[in-house]
Amino acid sequence: MKILVTGGAGYIGSHTCVALIQAGFTPVIADNFSNSHPLAISRIEAITGTRPESHNCDIADPDAMREILQSHKFAAAIHFAGVKAVGRSVSEPLETYRENVAGSLSLLQSLKAGGITRLIFSSSATVYGGAEQMPIPENAQVQPTNPYGHSKAMVEQILQDLAAAEPDWGIGVLRYFNPVGAHKSGEIGEDPQGIPDNLFPYVSQVAVGRREKLQVFGDDYETPDGTGVRDYIHVMDLAEGHVAALKTCLQSDGLFAVNLGTGQGSSVLEIIKAFEATSGRSVPYEITDRRPGDVGTSYADPAKAREMIGFEAKRDLTQMCRDAWNWQQRNPTGYSNQ
Ligand code: NAD
Ligand code: UD1
Repeated sequence: MKILVTGGAGYIGSHTCVALIQAGFTPVIADNFSNSHPLAISRIEAITGTRPESHNCDIADPDAMREILQSHKFAAAIHFAGVKAVGRSVSEPLETYRENVAGSLSLLQSLKAGGITRLIFSSSATVYGGAEQMPIPENAQVQPTNPYGHSKAMVEQILQDLAAAEPDWGIGVLRYFNPVGAHKSGEIGEDPQGIPDNLFPYVSQVAVGRREKLQVFGDDYETPDGTGVRDYIHVMDLAEGHVAALKTCLQSDGLFAVNLGTGQGSSVLEIIKAFEATSGRSVPYEITDRRPGDVGTSYADPAKAREMIGFEAKRDLTQMCRDAWNWQQRNPTGYSNQ
């Protein structure tokens, strides 16, 4: 069964392609490589023994998408392509809305014209903004606090309206918490360009000696040790969650939205300790001011994902750190210079 995977060369997309191939699906990648490296395709092949077909194209290019859609019989699409930097979404909101909202809209029109009505969409826990209720259930209020979060909430709304108007669509909206780690082979992983925005890649780069020390953004939150608490989920669990959601969406009409998280929160200091223990390296850090826009605590209620798509995360924090470290050591500068 062929699955169109937009953004399939990226961090989550590449891991999901591995999980799809291992589950017997045939992913076909459409990626413009604006935030990924073609080497990721060869690495998917190294892990699975299968080289996914890939097309260097923009999801917002209807001619290019038509060509791909006409040359295959796809059962569904998984849509990862988009931009994800929160800070840049604040400074360049038009770019974020063009890429995420206009890009998704154009893709949806291409899919519809190509007769594809099954879709999995990458949303984010960021749509919940500063939710008060912990753990966060899917019916918590959608109240994003930045343009990136709004762009995800807008696409969710478009998909809800589409599913309501055209009952032959089957759509799974997946709200990811904090994806981290890498495939256990160390062949594929997260390869941020420039200074990492997110905690895990920053900690890995400090441990490997690429950066001097970590800045811990605030130790005065209402959490057990004062540092921010998040729901980190191993990227291969997340990838397997896509396969589970895909199977559900292939069999049911309408739209469902589920959280993909573990239901467990970990603090920044706990992550540092866990990473030091698995890597055997020290991670020097200093406490600084809070990062504007951060919330103290965020973790998922994973019950609906268990009930709806039969998904439960299996890998623990030690595996997340071990696999992130293995990737970092084998690829100290990511995919470049190799
Ligand atoms: P990523 O940047 O590694 O992957 C995105 C991929 O899409 C890249 O390969 C990029 O080259 C490609 N792409 C971007 N714009 C494109 C376009 N117009 N046409 C074709 N390809 C395009 O990011 P990721 O971490 O793998 O995230 C995947 C999706 O999941 C994104 O939509 C992101 O917003 C969402 N998400 C990510 C996280 C996270 O923490 N990584 C959390 C929640 C949601
Ligand atoms: C951030 C985004 C979120 C996005 C997610 C995944 C913000 C406000 N939120 O989430 O929209 O979906 O990334 O891409 O940017 N931390 C440090 N030092 C660092 C980096 C992070 O102490 O150098 C702390 C943060 O304060 C937070 C935790 O580590 O408590 C996790 O941060 P991060 O990895 O950036 O993820 P989120 O903030 O949860």
